[in-house]
Amino acid sequence: MKQFTSIHDIPDLQILLNEALEIKKNPYSHEQLGKRKTLGMLFLNPSLRTRWSSEKAAINLGMSVISSTAEQGWSLEFGENIVMDGTKVEHIKEAAAVVSQYCDILGVRCFASLDDKELDYQDFVLKQFIKYAKVPVVSLESAILHPLQSFADCITIAEHRPAHRPKVVLTWAPHPKALPQAVANSFSEWMQHMDVDFVVTHPKGYELAPRFSENTLVEYDQNKAFANADFIYAKNWSSYSDYGKVLSLDKNWTVTPEKMALTNNAKFMHCLPVRRNMIVTDSVLDSENSIIMEQVANRTVAMQTILKRMICTTDIGY
Ligand code: CP
Repeated sequence: MKQFTSIHDIPDLQILLNEALEIKKNPYSHEQLGKRKTLGMLFLNPSLRTRWSSEKAAINLGMSVISSTAEQGWSLEFGENIVMDGTKVEHIKEAAAVVSQYCDILGVRCFASLDDKELDYQDFVLKQFIKYAKVPVVSLESAILHPLQSFADCITIAEHRPAHRPKVVLTWAPHPKALPQAVANSFSEWMQHMDVDFVVTHPKGYELAPRFSENTLVEYDQNKAFANADFIYAKNWSSYSDYGKVLSLDKNWTVTPEKMALTNNAKFMHCLPVRRNMIVTDSVLDSENSIIMEQVANRTVAMQTILKRMICTTDIGY
């Protein structure tokens, strides 16, 4: 596995899920595998869960970790054939090649600009890192996808799977800031590969990009969508069609106990960080049906599974 940027880098999701569940049962069974290997991570945007879970995953495999967060003054140029007479201090060509000298696997977090839809949806920044890095690259959330989060979410759903084919609902919920579509895009893509009935619900204007939502049922009535659901996954995202805009702050879309009562005693999921009493009420988030901390714990399992695959299947560090 030379890169992990989406579900398309995985040949078989069920085999990967089985591998993840084995790793979860016995997290230190490969603690020599990563000896003398280093995970490098560049965060162009902040992170709590992705950073800590990735560090823990690497440590469990015996790897060392180097990570950096972009600070003011560390400003990369991504354009080709550019005269660098502005504020950008280093070109991606050097930066990606440089960090490749110090690590065996490189993780990169690079959120959407929410200004330039075309560039964001090319996943331009992540692709430039992949182009110029000399080592395998793992997405720690790109402009359009968050595959490690989705993999952890799939592990969590697999662990709570009822006997019947479950109904999984991704619901938009209000948030005061414009957020990228990455988590919603990614979750939709992974759910299309799971044995579930998948429904997305959101106000009009929040349709996801066609390439991530095709083959997905959209229900504009949130109450109808919630009926008989086994899993409710709440998330805010900004508009794709009116790119990066907040079109609604309608609190009628907040996940409440009344809405959860429409479901089949559904589990509540969110990737975190979450805005309490905007996205979801305290009572739902703190309820027994909330499995947010299991999602958090499975972030380590997801990253450990990917790192193990990369070490085992790629000629790294030799
Ligand atoms: N869910 C998630 O990716 O969290 P962080 O932004 O804290 O990494």
